[in-house]
Amino acid sequence: MNRAAAKDRINKLKALINDYRYQYHVLDESTMSEAAADSLKHELSTLEAEYPDLITADSPTQRIAGEPLAKFSQVTHSSRMLSLNDVFNTKEVMAWVERLRKLSPTTSFEYFADVKMDGLACALIYEDGQLTTAVTRGNGFVGEDVTLNVRTIENVPLQLRRKAGHEHLCQGRTEVRGEIIMLIADFEALNSQRAAESKPLFANPRNLAAGTIRQLDPALAAARPLRFRAYDLLRENPSDVPTNSLAYEALQNIGISANTEAKVFSSVEDVLAYAQYWGEARHNLPFNTDGLVIKLNDRALYADLGVVGKAPRAAVAYKYAAEEATTTVIDIILSIGRTGTANPVAVFEPVVVAGSTVQHATLHNTDEIARKDIRVGDTVIIYKAGDIIPQVLKVLTELRPKNAKPFNMEAELQRQYPELDFERVPGEAAYRMKNVSGPLLLKRALEHFASKGAMDIDTLGEKNVAALVDSGLVTDLASIYALTEDQILTVDRFASLSAQKLVSGIQATKQPPLPRFIYGLGIRHVGSQTAIDLANAFGSLPALAQANLDELQAVDGIGKVVAESIAAWFADADNEELLKKFTDLGVAPFHETHEDGPLHGEKFVITGGLETMTRDQAADKIRALGGAFQSTLGKDTTYLVVGANVGAAKLAKAAKYGTKQINETELMNLIGHN
Ligand code: IVH
Repeated sequence: MNRAAAKDRINKLKALINDYRYQYHVLDESTMSEAAADSLKHELSTLEAEYPDLITADSPTQRIAGEPLAKFSQVTHSSRMLSLNDVFNTKEVMAWVERLRKLSPTTSFEYFADVKMDGLACALIYEDGQLTTAVTRGNGFVGEDVTLNVRTIENVPLQLRRKAGHEHLCQGRTEVRGEIIMLIADFEALNSQRAAESKPLFANPRNLAAGTIRQLDPALAAARPLRFRAYDLLRENPSDVPTNSLAYEALQNIGISANTEAKVFSSVEDVLAYAQYWGEARHNLPFNTDGLVIKLNDRALYADLGVVGKAPRAAVAYKYAAEEATTTVIDIILSIGRTGTANPVAVFEPVVVAGSTVQHATLHNTDEIARKDIRVGDTVIIYKAGDIIPQVLKVLTELRPKNAKPFNMEAELQRQYPELDFERVPGEAAYRMKNVSGPLLLKRALEHFASKGAMDIDTLGEKNVAALVDSGLVTDLASIYALTEDQILTVDRFASLSAQKLVSGIQATKQPPLPRFIYGLGIRHVGSQTAIDLANAFGSLPALAQANLDELQAVDGIGKVVAESIAAWFADADNEELLKKFTDLGVAPFHETHEDGPLHGEKFVITGGLETMTRDQAADKIRALGGAFQSTLGKDTTYLVVGANVGAAKLAKAAKYGTKQINETELMNLIGHN
């Protein structure tokens, strides 16, 4: 991105993130998830890192969130309420530990890990054991006095319990810091009650907890079941509380809830295993969590290591993969589904969501695109819940480029499929190919799949294909691998021997060479040579399915149109399901690479006719020796094999590229053919 474009984008991102933060922190409303906002913030800091002179003091990357609300009286914190730096993977945890080791080389660390609650930070101040004040985090230095509301929270003791061994905590000032949360079950009960009363529903437990604490009516707070869970205990004399684990123990003893999940570890590997464990188990916790807090257990050391920015050095939040992210739509491509409908698919700038890279999502149909007003060039929020395929949640219209045009299905069909005729299905949002039916398309697809250049199943000719599809036994390409003799015998055409031959003919192709399998899928514009090029470039079907437009276009002979067609095919949810079905039925294409072959790295193009073998035979031989066979001459072609009747233009091009020209005999010498 050039400087002017970066400046424009930075300004738009700043405005949008600042709005979001104001709504979230001050008004307790939410326009997008924290994960989506983080994703935008990440884009902003990446741009700012590239153009540091564009950083301004009002950038969300430069400020501390959460100005205190004027309607409450303000309280200055006894010590700043800090935040935590985030880490996202093992590598970042290890790097954090390394940094600490450099600062404190002689100490062997003990770690304390607790699940991170998704609520509202709050400090409770007890004087001689009596609750005097409750203060929100605010901007970290000054918070809001929410004592009256907090006093309604059942599990906040108004008086600390005197417990043997901990009596000193009931003398002088004891500050307890923790999180105000609402349990998911309580939240859901409240919402179903509201649904029954036809009232608008609350967005999530965190917002509701924050909204409840930061409103002025304690009666309302009392009517909403909030909880407090502590994570810190502050005393004037720090040696009163030497470790974090002792702090948790003391908290429980004086009557304050703290998570029982918190644990001490002596090795970072064990901490990582615990983080891994909660990555899964977190869904069973009664409250929402998006991470694990990891801190050093020794509090004197913790304090000594100090603070950078607004976070202590000696603690981090290990964050679990976000299930939402923002990205830009780089294209909207159409794939033709099983029944001849055109399925629109968005192609994204690749982005990691919930741990895996997402680069496309189905957009369902033209009405859905219009409803969400998704345009090429738009920044969108995408989400992925569990195993569910990614979806576009919404467009951030604030970030829309000026030239983004609304999506026009009919124009796109014209552009991407000029040779086909489509019509809008009456009463539906779908566009379908004219004059074809699902069964007809399936018959054509299956004939192609079984044809000589593909799976080469000679018992599966046109008539058998028609009979199997018409009988309903075959519903997609993969289902032929599930056919049994008994089933086939129910179709008139077949007798015992022919049924047996058909099944064995099909079963014999369960380990097909990858190029033939790719070709057999019938992806538009993917002929047998392109299938070979794709197999050579990607080596496996999953790798091909993951390839983005740039990677596809990097393959020799593949341009934008072919790349779009391949990407659209693999992005189509029906095709994804089809590939899974092949796998489930034991179909496993294989691809031999010959990386150690003598011709590895050499690229061949054959032009004109050969005398001693066919072009395909030569190509097979070249590949078997590790060489690559190309369909068109490129700058990277090593050898142009010149056969009979070759045009001068080809030779001139080879001369221009400096490609070696050899004749058939020289090729024979190279490939050792006699
Ligand atoms: S320890 C320096 N433990 O997460 C603050 N914090 O993103 C050390 N939080 O400010 C806090 N659960 O409001 C700690 N088990 C837990 C937590 C927790 C939630 C919040 C807390 C903190 C924020 C940091």
